[in-house]
Amino acid sequence: MPTTVALLVAAGRGERLGHDRPKALVPCAGRPLMAWSLDALQAVDAIGHVVAALPPGITAPHGTLGVTGGAERSHSVRAALHAAPVSDWVLVHDAARPMLTPAIVEELHDVMASEDCDAAIAATPVADTIKEAAGEVVVRTLDRSHLWAIQTPQLFRRDALERALGLGDAALAAATDDASLIESFGGEVRLVPTTSQNFKVTTPEDLHLAELILRDRS
Ligand code: C5P
Repeated sequence: MPTTVALLVAAGRGERLGHDRPKALVPCAGRPLMAWSLDALQAVDAIGHVVAALPPGITAPHGTLGVTGGAERSHSVRAALHAAPVSDWVLVHDAARPMLTPAIVEELHDVMASEDCDAAIAATPVADTIKEAAGEVVVRTLDRSHLWAIQTPQLFRRDALERALGLGDAALAAATDDASLIESFGGEVRLVPTTSQNFKVTTPEDLHLAELILRDRS
C-alpha cells in the first residue's frame, strides 16, 4: 500500500470571518476550527504524518509537524511539502473545511489506487445555474451538467505535486487549488463525488452552520 503524508493548510488570516485570530484557531463547536479536520486525517490508516502550515508564531497541534505558511495558499502548500517526510502520495486539505470525514479521504485513496491518474480530488456537482458575466452584464450561461464545485481534500502522486509546485511564485499565486497546477501540464485529475456538507468556512454564517452540523454529529 502506498504511503501518504497529509498537508493541512491553516495559515490563512480569514479576514472575511471578522475574528481577531487566524481562521484555523477560531472556536467552532468548542474547539479550534482546524482540530476537526485534523482528527479526521489522523483517523485514516494510510496517513503516516500530518504537516500543518500555520500562521507565524503558532504552535503546531499535537501529532503534527508545523511549518510557517506563505503569502498565498499555494505557497503554504509548498512550504509544508518541503518539510514533509518521504511518501508516495500527498494529501492536501484546507483547515477551513472542518466537516472532513475519514470516509472522504479513504475514497480518494481508492480512486488513486484503481485509476492511473495524477490526482483524485473531492468535488460536488454544481446545483446553481452558473453564468459568465462582464461586470454585471451576462455574457453566457454555462452548461451546468458539466460543472463541478471543487473542494479539498485533494490527493496527489507526490512527483506530480512536486512538479506542479515548482512552477514558480506567480503561477502558484494565481492558483486557487493545487489540482489546477497539475492540469496546466496535462496531468490527469479525477473527480471524486462528495457531499456539499464538506463546505469551506468563509463567513460568520458558514461558521454558525458548521457548529450546528458538528455539534449534531458529536
Ligand atoms: O483563503 P482561502 O479560504 O482560500 O484559504 C483556504 C485554506 O488555505 C485555509 O485553510 C487557509 O488557512 C489556507 N491558507 C494558507 N495560507 C495562505 C492562505 C490560505 O494556509 N496564505
